[in-house]
Amino acid sequence: MTTQTHPIELAVIGGTGLYQLADLQDVETHQPVTHFGAPSGPIRVGTIDGHRVAFLARHGEGHSLPPHQINYRANLAALKALGARCVLALNTVGGITERFGPRVLGCPDQLIDYTWGRVSTICEEPGSEVIHVDFGEPYTRSLRASIVDAAADAGVALVDGGCYGATQGPRLETRAEIARMRRDGCDLVGMTGMPEAGLARELGLDYACLAIVANWAAGAGPDPDEVITLQDVLDNVAAASSGLPSLIGAL
Ligand code: HPA
Repeated sequence: MTTQTHPIELAVIGGTGLYQLADLQDVETHQPVTHFGAPSGPIRVGTIDGHRVAFLARHGEGHSLPPHQINYRANLAALKALGARCVLALNTVGGITERFGPRVLGCPDQLIDYTWGRVSTICEEPGSEVIHVDFGEPYTRSLRASIVDAAADAGVALVDGGCYGATQGPRLETRAEIARMRRDGCDLVGMTGMPEAGLARELGLDYACLAIVANWAAGAGPDPDEVITLQDVLDNVAAASSGLPSLIGAL
């Protein structure tokens, strides 16, 4: 793996519909293999306004990996090995509560994990030290505050706070599942928020989620019979992402 002279100030992990960072200049490509295996795809490292930024497409650049098959450990370990200490996770989500309609950007402050069967810790090998990281506040407070400030500086509307519910996928949820998640206190639903956030904490990385609402979650919108299509998801992500370059630039 190449050693870098200038540290990476921010690593961005892109979700569904977000496969590159348009403003990244002087891009170098890294294909690291970590102790946990290979990440989802190449890591592009470049500069935005003179600051070194890394970008990795979570599902692979051609969206070939479903949420449960992403090697979350390798992704984070690879970014860390390249020198990243701070991770901005872009997650495409469905909106459950009123504040989170399609095309809204949100920066949740809590999460509930409904995923199962995913490797969710770096303490897997026999004999490795067992660590019980504090996770009461799952996203790094200072990074969340910087994201909220950056959005304000860039004039990009962003909802501060909310609870992200991580589901297994790759299918979308039933209306009953979303109704239960609403009762549990979830505002947003996505498939990739965990184990990524927990692993970032175990690896000592600062980590926060910028959620892009692509659709009303099943039964949550004004038309309870609405069918969610991939095209709607992609169209709404594209529209909601127009403010991302200026927000990331401000960050
Ligand atoms: N549910 C789960 N994940 C999602 C959704 C959804 O409705 N929309 C985009 N990602």
